[in-house]
Amino acid sequence: MALYSEKVMDHFRNPRNVGVIENADGVGEVGNPVCGDIMKIYLKINDEQVIEDVKFETFGCGSAIASSSMATELIKGKPVSEALQLTNKAVTEALDGLPAHKLHCSVLAEEAIQSAVKDYYDKSGVAVAE
Ligand code: FES
Repeated sequence: MALYSEKVMDHFRNPRNVGVIENADGVGEVGNPVCGDIMKIYLKINDEQVIEDVKFETFGCGSAIASSSMATELIKGKPVSEALQLTNKAVTEALDGLPAHKLHCSVLAEEAIQSAVKDYYDKSGVAVAE
């Protein structure tokens, strides 16, 4: 069996939602100190608390790029409260799996989105239960 699924390779080669959102409503940046990879997520959120647009910049491995790409696809058009619930497991499943030593790459995507949503909540004065 190939190390990486077709979906991982597709999202690595043609990542969706790459870029920056100027004046984003929420921005989250996280890094993994072990591998040194960094992921940044930008959210545009409308008055109904729905994620209208999402972009990412990832300075990292192929699995991190594929995970960010898939994660942004999973939360686009969804309420922010749902994005906050996105787990790395859901991202990994949507990618048809990642090798065990690459699971931490999907954790970065989960953390970056949570960080961006919390930034949005902070900016808009919404209290969040930890
Ligand atoms: Fe660290 Fe992929 S090797 S995010």
